[in-house]
Amino acid sequence: MALSTSDLDTQRLAQSHLLPHFTKGQHWRSDGLGVIERGEGCYVYDTDGVEYLDGLAGLFCSNLGHGRADLAAVAAEQMEKLAFYPTWGWANPPAAEAASMIAGRAPGDLDEVFFVSSGSEAMESALKLARSYHLSRGDEGRYKVIAREWCYHGTTLGALAVTGVPKIRGPYEPMLWDGVRHVRNTLGDTAEALASAAAVEEMIVAEGPETVAAVVAEPVQNGRGGLVPPAGYWQELRRICDRHGVLLVADEVICAFGRFGHWFASERFGAEPDLVTFAKGVTSAYLPLGGVVARRPVVESIWDSPMAAYLHGSTFGGHPVTTAVAVANMTAMEDEGIMGHVLANEGGFRRRMDELASAHRCVGDLRGLGYFYALEVMADREEGRTLTDHQRQALEGGVLAGHVRDARLLIRPDDRGATMLVVSPPLIADDVVLDDLADRLDRVLVAAEAWIAGNP
Ligand SMILES: Cc1ncc(COP(=O)(O)O)c(C=O)c1O
Repeated sequence: MALSTSDLDTQRLAQSHLLPHFTKGQHWRSDGLGVIERGEGCYVYDTDGVEYLDGLAGLFCSNLGHGRADLAAVAAEQMEKLAFYPTWGWANPPAAEAASMIAGRAPGDLDEVFFVSSGSEAMESALKLARSYHLSRGDEGRYKVIAREWCYHGTTLGALAVTGVPKIRGPYEPMLWDGVRHVRNTLGDTAEALASAAAVEEMIVAEGPETVAAVVAEPVQNGRGGLVPPAGYWQELRRICDRHGVLLVADEVICAFGRFGHWFASERFGAEPDLVTFAKGVTSAYLPLGGVVARRPVVESIWDSPMAAYLHGSTFGGHPVTTAVAVANMTAMEDEGIMGHVLANEGGFRRRMDELASAHRCVGDLRGLGYFYALEVMADREEGRTLTDHQRQALEGGVLAGHVRDARLLIRPDDRGATMLVVSPPLIADDVVLDDLADRLDRVLVAAEAWIAGNP
């Protein structure tokens, strides 16, 4: 691909000084390193003006799409009024308003909002809140956490310990705390046989309930690809947690703010968690914000105990500008009927994905819901052929990423437990965008199929 002068300038600066996240040095150093410069709606553009369909909403977060001047204006206005003051001992109007809007949209008595700046920090905060709650009740032995295989809950060391993706845990294993146990996820479960919920209870009993602080799960798990829980799963988790005095944490960093047509996916699944983590879509990624919503009794127990305070915090938690943007984002989502839009269009999205899956023999499975899908790749579904090791390594190592890029589509080739393509567009995507997404995805699958056939 020909690169313009400005492209080359940015590329050179990035290659010299910008250390990328989860990116192989070989790619970063190559001429293929792209530079995304601007975005509008569901599309982003590189410095040559090449248009890409953002089929991943950035990273599951650009829910209202790109290029909204109204959200930028709110940030600018708040910066002029009060750019910053911490929420240590003082409140500020946007943080209080954002907290009350989030509490008002969260299920049940999830009423208290603690702000941080990312999903990983949100998970750290939930872990410490759970521990603090048990301490406040004199339950000092409770510190362990049960999570599920292939789950992703962030990269800071506490959150990484909860994360169940071996490849990204492995290098840091000696630095991780030893209180986390992973049990099987919901893949293959049915409403009649909730083996994964039973596995949670077995682990709590095996470890000793008096040592367990929390169970952590995503409503729809992203790691291992679009794991939608069977009916009754979250109700069973609630029952198990209640029986053993354990807090239930829903990690809604991806799921909240509309991905499944509800402010919180817990609502869709009838889940009643004690703590809910969020980030990403709360500002549609216009600024970085994350947090935890806690049930009121959890917070009151801590405040009314000798601890008297939740002993955790960060400089930018409750930042007036990020929370002002969260207020504007939630208001826009409401005014523009985003939840209704997702619910009205999810059937059409599913139909397009089903058609693609059945048209392509390299799709082994399709899982997902709402505006979130994972396609699992195999060699030939009709012949029941799985990928050879060589094919899998090559597809995961860059071949799929190349096909995706050739189709000018930004979706995620994923290797967490299977070779997959993950699709999760901005929530404003309408029929026109979903058709375009399906066309581009079709091209990716045609190319993948041809590559698999040519590389036995
Ligand atoms: C479910 C879940 N939890 C936590 C995180 C961590 O969020 P962040 O990357 O903002 O730290 C992510 C990130 O993708 C996530 O998907």
